[in-house]
This record gives sequence, C-alpha cells and structure tokens, in this order.
Amino acid sequence: MEGLTIFGIDKITDVVEYFNGEKTLKPVHYTPQTELEIYHEFAIDFSDVKGQENVKRALEIAACGGHNILLIGPPGSGKTMLAKRLPSILPPLTTDEALETTKIHSVAGLVGANKGLLTKHPFRSPHHTVSDVALVGGGSHPKPGEISLAHNGILFLDELPEYKRQVLEVMRQPLEDRMVSISRAKMSVDFPAGFMLVASMNPSPSGNFYDPNDPNSDPEYIVKRYMNKISGPLMDRIDLHIEVPAVPFEKLSNAEKGESSAIIRKRVVKTRNMQEKRFEAIPKLHYNAQLEPKLIEKFCGIDSNGQELLKKAMDKMGLSARSYSRILKVARTIADMEESDSILTQHLAEAIQFRSLDRNN
Ligand SMILES: Nc1ncnc2c1ncn2[C@@H]1O[C@H](COP(=O)(O)OP(=O)(O)O)[C@@H](O)[C@H]1O
Ligand SMILES: [Mg+2]
Repeated sequence: MEGLTIFGIDKITDVVEYFNGEKTLKPVHYTPQTELEIYHEFAIDFSDVKGQENVKRALEIAACGGHNILLIGPPGSGKTMLAKRLPSILPPLTTDEALETTKIHSVAGLVGANKGLLTKHPFRSPHHTVSDVALVGGGSHPKPGEISLAHNGILFLDELPEYKRQVLEVMRQPLEDRMVSISRAKMSVDFPAGFMLVASMNPSPSGNFYDPNDPNSDPEYIVKRYMNKISGPLMDRIDLHIEVPAVPFEKLSNAEKGESSAIIRKRVVKTRNMQEKRFEAIPKLHYNAQLEPKLIEKFCGIDSNGQELLKKAMDKMGLSARSYSRILKVARTIADMEESDSILTQHLAEAIQFRSLDRNN
C-alpha cells in the first residue's frame, strides 16, 4: 500500500523501547509501481516467432485496445506459441490492478505464504475438460473461477472446439459484463472478470483450411459443422478473428529475428495512455474494448464513406448488430495506433478483415 509509514519490528520490546524514546526505528520504503515495472523480464519473446507478421499485427491491435482474439490455423502453425507471448507486450500492471488481482488470487487461496503483490498479468489456460464451476466460479462457499483469476490479464482457451459447449455458454454473460454474479440461497457474490479472451482453433477436423480444390481437405459441411461447435453469440463477442497459416520450412530456417516484445510494448503503452486520457472522466473505462453501446456512438463516429463501407460489408457478410459494434471498437483502436482522432476508411477496412469467421457462416 502506498501512503503509509511502515516499521518492521522483530520483538514487542522494540515497540516498547520505541515509544519510550529509547530506540529509533527506520520506516520501510517500498514503491509497488517500481516493482511492477521492473518485473517486465520475460523468458519468452515475440522475436522468437518467425514471419507471421499479420498475426503479430492482430495481437498488437488486441493488446492496444484490450480486445478478445481468436487464432485459427492448422496444428503446428504457432498459435499456442503466439498466444503465450501476448502478456509480454501488455503494459505493466498499475498498482490498483496489482492489488485487485492479488485480492482475487488470495480469496481463491492461490497466493503462497510470504508472497507479496502479484506483479504479472495473470495468464490462465484452463484445460478443455474444465467444468463450468471451475471456469466461472461457484461452489457452496463461492470461489472465483478461471475467468476471475484471469481478471486484468488473459484467459487462454487453446483448441476452443474441444471445450464443452455448455461450459463456453456460461462464459457469455460475464464476457459482456466483465464480472460474474454467483447467487446462493442466502447470499450473492460478485467477482470481477475483466479479462482478454484469447482462443485458438483448427479451421477443420483435419486441421487444414477449407479448400474445395484439395482432395485432402474436409468437405464443406464437415467444416461448417465443426465451426458451429462454437456458438454464434460467443463468436460475436470475439473482436478479432485471425488466420494463422503454417510458415513454410524454408522461411522458418531463414527468416530474420522479428521485433522484440519490448519494442512492441512501447507502442502498446503509448496507445493505452491515449485511451486512458480520452476516457479520464469516465469511471471504470480504460481501453476501447470496454466501450458500451452508448459510448461507442460517442467515441467511434464514422463519416459517410465509412458508413457506406460498413453497410456494404454488413450486407455481404451477414454480420450481426454485435459484430457491428466490435468492428467500430477495433477501428477505434487502429486509429489510435496511428494517433488519428477520427476513424478513417482504412481503419474500418482493416477492422472488417478481422471478422473472417462471420464471412463463413
Ligand atoms: N512462426 C514460427 N516461428 C518459430 N517457430 C515456430 C513458428 N511456428 C511454429 N513454430 C514452432 O512450432 C512449434 C509448434 O507450434 P505451436 O504453437 O504449438 O502450434 P499450434 O498451437 O498452432 O499447434 C512451436 O513450439 C515452435 O517451436
Ligand atoms: Mg497449440
């Protein structure tokens, strides 16, 4: 905690002597924010990933605006590798976030003895056999679930279609509300659940992208059935869908080292700071992904060209009203990354590209 003078003592007699003026005690100096900033040493780094520039771009956009993202690609294309590197480009936790995160983990009994503040963004990756109670929280003495343990961090659902549909459905409301209410006969508890959802999946049961000219790819109806395992409403709540093609072997062995996480993080921090400033007067609003419908109108206005483009895309791709607001929020983030006050057509066009799964339905 900041703003307190704290003395460390070994024996109660020290306290007595202190108050008798026989002993002096030195206050302990501790600044949590410094600790939060220096923790940013990661063992894994974006520079380990060769190629995949489009995917890295999508992950940077997601980090900048706090957007949910789905990675779709064949096995071995690097989805898990990429997702695990996302925390390394997020801005350091603020002291408030660190306190909040620590509280939740403490309630769940996950902060070890003699451990202080949690200083890293949580990265939770529950196995696909996770129960709905373990995911969203519950029990007779309600305990936070994975979605609350991921608060201020990332919930990574690897191989999304493997999760039980009913388990994914219980996550829908908390995804919208950024908190979960657990009701019991005698009480009800609210746990925060403001996390970034990062999910991965294969594009089909065989693992390949659908290609009508490839005899080895699954037939279209099989691919559709596979995609339908993830319900439309859940898909609608994911702002960015990005295809992760496998990187050919020659490229893997030859490609130069990519940008480091530290360089990408600098840009992310800058974009996040802009958003903090814009939303300064609005409580609990820090980044674009948190914008609610009323505020989307206020902050994500587009001109007539943009409206034209968006209408065309909606008609052609059959987008839902929900994905319409997702596009606007992502476009807002892309504009922020370019320090543009208004959302221009090119920002919208890029945001629309990230609805590739809506296109398939
Ligand atoms: N673009 C890449 N650059 C470097 N290594 C890669 C890349 N893509 C895949 N790999 C290697 O392949 C392994 C498998 O990737 P993984 O992330 O498990 O794939 P997926 O989750 O898509 O099945 C990684 O651990 C890494 O060693
Ligand atoms: Mg994987």
